[in-house]
Amino acid sequence: MTLSETRFAAAHRAIDLAALPRDFAWGTATSAYQIEGAVDEDGRGPSIWDTFSHTPGAVDGGHNGDTACDHYHRWQEDIDLMKELGTNAYRLSVAWPRVLPGGDGPVNAKGLDFYDRLVDGLLAAGVTPSVTLYHWDLPQALQDRGGWPERATAEHFAAYAGLVAGRLGDRVTEWATLNEPLCSAWIGHLEGRMAPGWTDLTAAVRASYHLLLGHGLATSAVRAAAPGARIGIVNNLSTVEPATTSEADRAAAHRMDGHVNRWWLDPVHGRGFPADMREVYGVDLPERPGDPATIAAPLDWIGLNYYFPQIVTADPTGPAPHARQIDRPGVPRTGMDWEVDASGIETLLMRLTEEYGARRIHVTENGSSYPDTPAPDGSVHDPERAAYLTGHLAACARAARRGAPLAGYYAWSLLDNFEWAYGYDKRFGLVHVDYETQRRTVKSSGRHYAEVIAAHRAL
Ligand code: IFM
Repeated sequence: MTLSETRFAAAHRAIDLAALPRDFAWGTATSAYQIEGAVDEDGRGPSIWDTFSHTPGAVDGGHNGDTACDHYHRWQEDIDLMKELGTNAYRLSVAWPRVLPGGDGPVNAKGLDFYDRLVDGLLAAGVTPSVTLYHWDLPQALQDRGGWPERATAEHFAAYAGLVAGRLGDRVTEWATLNEPLCSAWIGHLEGRMAPGWTDLTAAVRASYHLLLGHGLATSAVRAAAPGARIGIVNNLSTVEPATTSEADRAAAHRMDGHVNRWWLDPVHGRGFPADMREVYGVDLPERPGDPATIAAPLDWIGLNYYFPQIVTADPTGPAPHARQIDRPGVPRTGMDWEVDASGIETLLMRLTEEYGARRIHVTENGSSYPDTPAPDGSVHDPERAAYLTGHLAACARAARRGAPLAGYYAWSLLDNFEWAYGYDKRFGLVHVDYETQRRTVKSSGRHYAEVIAAHRAL
């Protein structure tokens, strides 16, 4: 056996590839602000992340997305990388401020043209685009009018979604409304670690409500503009376990589950916002008649972003949900200091299937950051990332074998990129980016992913 044949056989053995459907979407994922750069080009307007990242002290190293991976100019090269990996799917996000610099008009034709070219390029390469409409880059103009705590933002989001679907919907079938609304609402408005950087529980709860309302309104708008669209929402979910068997920790774990999982899943599945969490937050929701049905608009698929489990303890004096994550000693961690637990992805896939009745699921993100250092010859050897990938893919296949309707897996990320408040030092890519030269180098984990994909195709 050659080395490549040995690796091929190993990938095959570690992951029950036969459990995955023949037409499985083998993808990578990115988002606009994290890779595009060109923030002042061709009429793009500023987003809340331009503002936040230029706020002194907000982002490690004072980094920002001004240039990022220069994908706005290098998209063809990046599509070539997707082909090199053998992927057949790519999850991208559209930058709202590139399309509608003022948030609600006028339309920036050059912005739409960029995504038009990108979609055509992907299709020409045999890569199916999956388009996310909102990955955190709210136009600053809408933030200046109150942002997500205001109902009008949800309505503007729907109009923008319909506009983009009207332009790309003849070629794009897979659509996601929001990426990780938890981060926009809780981290952006309650913890203040992401744009817009607020620490205000009332604003955070209102933002969470309007994000989900915007999701529902956008779902209808995309369906109207692009009949045949398959629409989903992408949530970052975690398994949650109490640190001890004490009553206080068990209650804390239930609250944390409400905060990170149920608050985001229940309303879109027609169950309304969880009553226990409404009590924990103690904030009136800006509800209007008809909203629950709008938020629960039927979905074609559900997206799972999974990174780490949460082990929690009660924190009565801390902010809502009065529960705090603790670090378990002696367990493996990524460069983000996130615990590695592949079984969590299987648990969550089964929860979506059994508790929420999901009929089609995509793992829309999963991946790991490690401090990769290029060797003197320029190659990047990252066995920890490859192991993380294998472990999580094996867990996905186990869930599929148990009946989870798993239709695709999108590795986060195609490229090293701007990791939000952590800047560029946290690298998640299957492809290394040298930010000085913009040189791309496929890491050994990327080659490993290519081998897994090839092994599945060869079945
Ligand atoms: O980089 C982010 C991405 O934008 C959203 N999901 C988690 C990733 C890693 O932190």
